[in-house]
Amino acid sequence: MTDEPVSHVSDTARWVAVYRATESARPDALFTDPYADRLAGERGRRIVAMAPRAIRSGWWLVARTKTIDDILADAIAAGCDRVLNLAAGLDTRPYRLDLPAELRWVEADLPALIAEKDQFLTGETPRCRLTRVGVDLSDPAARDGFLDEALRGATKALVLTEGLLMYLEPSDVDDLSQALSRTEVAWWTLDLAGPGLVKRMNQQTGGLLKNAPFKFAPAEGVRYFEERGWHTMEVESIFAVAARLRRLPWYLRLIARLPQPDPRHPPPNRPWNAVVRLDRSN
Ligand SMILES: C[S@@+](CC[C@H](N)C(=O)[O-])C[C@H]1O[C@@H](n2cnc3c(N)ncnc32)[C@H](O)[C@@H]1O
Repeated sequence: MTDEPVSHVSDTARWVAVYRATESARPDALFTDPYADRLAGERGRRIVAMAPRAIRSGWWLVARTKTIDDILADAIAAGCDRVLNLAAGLDTRPYRLDLPAELRWVEADLPALIAEKDQFLTGETPRCRLTRVGVDLSDPAARDGFLDEALRGATKALVLTEGLLMYLEPSDVDDLSQALSRTEVAWWTLDLAGPGLVKRMNQQTGGLLKNAPFKFAPAEGVRYFEERGWHTMEVESIFAVAARLRRLPWYLRLIARLPQPDPRHPPPNRPWNAVVRLDRSN
């Protein structure tokens, strides 16, 4: 680990945890994560201090988190019997959401991050049957072995890859999409960024993402997944959600009044990102 705020991709988990802590402290909080501040730590706060102004308040993370909380509640009401949170980072939904006690929830992330998280949350009690696994999801053999084990006995699993795909090589996303195309998986929820946003993040963050650059940003938006056998159930523009939830800084509220890019038919250069829920098209 170097002294740079983001020395490794796993540090980005600390970054987003800061925003969950900030939201949790608001009187009108959209969710409450009592562990986020501790998990984010000093390094997380240093990353936020370096972030460009347009994203520093974390409006995008608040909108993303709330959207995914709602998707999870909806899937559970529709009979979801397993949640796989891939690249779970420092997310604590198994401890903070209202969940059926018998629900099995599996978190995966790189081994060092999982070891650290286990240590942080020792003695805390999740609200469902939680297990945590250290695995490199870009290692096909390790990933497939993990999926076989984590999905055993499931019939209606929801797979979540929140804040992961942009850090993967396009070929790894392609592989992952194939690996998740199995009968136990009913839904795949992910967040997706377009090329305009990725370029802006890599170029305008003052070297912040030098050690964890954004890589995956399909120009065709959600069609990327549709071409791989997935069906788009739901697409939520993160910017539009943040506007609706009144989390945008004032100068972005003006932009929110203009027509926004549609991730189903994205314009080539405008930045966009979205939360997407997929199911299998056959
Ligand atoms: C931005 S964080 C998102 C964490 C969490 N999903 C959230 O939204 O709070 C990105 C996460 O991806 C994980 N990650 C990146 N590449 C990975 C890989 N090849 N295998 C497993 N996890 C990976 C990092 O360790 C980090 O926890």
